[in-house]
This record gives sequence, C-alpha cells and structure tokens, in this order.
Amino acid sequence: MKENNNLQLILTEDKSYSIYNEVVGESYHSHKGAYTESMLVFIKNGLLPIMNVFQNLKVFEMGFGTGLNALLTQNTAPSKTIFYETVEAFPLEKRFIDLLSYTDLPDLRSSLHVFESLHLCDWNKEAAITPYFTLLKHHCDFLDFEFNSNDFHLIYYDAFSLEAQQELWTEDVFVKLYQILVEGGVLVTYSSKGQVKRALRSAGFRVERLAGPPGKRHVLRATKD
Ligand SMILES: C[S@@+](CC[C@H](N)C(=O)[O-])C[C@H]1O[C@@H](n2cnc3c(N)ncnc32)[C@H](O)[C@@H]1O
Repeated sequence: MKENNNLQLILTEDKSYSIYNEVVGESYHSHKGAYTESMLVFIKNGLLPIMNVFQNLKVFEMGFGTGLNALLTQNTAPSKTIFYETVEAFPLEKRFIDLLSYTDLPDLRSSLHVFESLHLCDWNKEAAITPYFTLLKHHCDFLDFEFNSNDFHLIYYDAFSLEAQQELWTEDVFVKLYQILVEGGVLVTYSSKGQVKRALRSAGFRVERLAGPPGKRHVLRATKD
C-alpha cells in the first residue's frame, strides 16, 4: 500500500486530534476543532436530517482519512442499518491511527472496538463492523473510482480544499456524485467557496449555505430534489 510520509499529528482547539499533511499544506480537519467540525458539517447537516427520511442508509465518503466521519456516523445512529462506502488514496499508517485517541472524547468512549475495526478491516472488501454498520473502503484515487450503484442517500465530500485540489471540485465531479444519489439525497461539505457552489448548481444540485463551525462562517448542503 502507498504510504504518506509527510504527515504530522496535530491537536486541534477542541482537544481532538487531526493530521497535517506537509506537502499539501493542509490538515484533515479545522484547527479550531476536528470533532466539532465533523459533527456539524457531516452529522448535524447531513446524517441527522437524512436518517429521518430514509430507512436504511447508503453513505459515500470522499477521503476516509482518520475514519472520524465513519466513527461519528456509527456512533450517532448505532441501530440504523448503514452501508458506508468510501475511497482513500493514501491510507493512514497504523502509528498515526493509534495516536488519534478519538475514543478518549466523551461522546466516543464506548467506541474503541468500532474505531479499531474501521481501520483494521481489509481494503476493497465489505466488512460488518457491527450488525448494523457495514463498511466498504476502497484504496484508490477518487478520480479513477467507478461507482457500481446509484442509490446513495448521503455524501460526505471531504477532499482537501479547492486551492489544493482544483480537480476534485469541478462540475464533472459533482455530476458523477449527483448521479449516484437517490431523489432527496444530499451532499454535505465544509467548503463554501463560490466556485464550489456554482459547480454544484451546474451539476443539478439545490445548494444551501448553512452556519459553519468555529472559524468558518458557512458550509454547504446540496440536495438532489
Ligand atoms: C481533508 S482530508 C479528510 C479526511 C477524512 N475525511 C477525515 O475525517 O479524517 C482529505 C482526505 O482525502 C484523501 N484524498 C485526497 N485526494 C484523494 C483522491 N484523489 N482520492 C482519494 N482520496 C483522496 C486524503 O488522503 C485525505 O485522507
């Protein structure tokens, strides 16, 4: 497997850890709080409203990274049937995974086994993490990834920023993601850049600007009506 040797563990302001990628010049989460940001952008804006609309959920995450979004999803809806599919070009080395300590956070104290299973399970193979939560993580570049189903309800779009990865925030990418959603499905992301909003709208999404986490005025939710 490819390994990324340009990473550092960082402690963010809400006392949750994240990873800083020196080559990209960006961290995986906001310095103001990894946990706080993920809870707002992905769980509050995405999972919570969607889980009341659809019975069994299919979630796609762009960029598995630390596994924090998968962990928060399982922890928020432990008895909801969720199929969670994700891609990651640069899987984190075990030495970083062991230092993240997400299960020391008050809300995640009982999730150590889940966190370990999310990371220990094989790539490119479905894994039953709990009786309700199934994970399929692909070790590949998102731009080469071909979806083999189009019945997703929720997309966590968590690439590096537009400045760092122009190629991942284009209309073509969002058309591909629009096509894999069911009607009423949503894509949530931390970016609120004008160029991102325009690309999402051109792809067919209805775009809402929502209040952001500390340090960030707005984030986006895009719905396939
Ligand atoms: C902003 S970080 C978010 C990570 C993750 N969602 C988390 O909460 O830890 C972006 C992630 O996308 C991955 N990534 C970047 N470009 C990618 C690509 N083209 N295909 C797949 N993964 C990619 C990075 O390695 C990193 O893990």
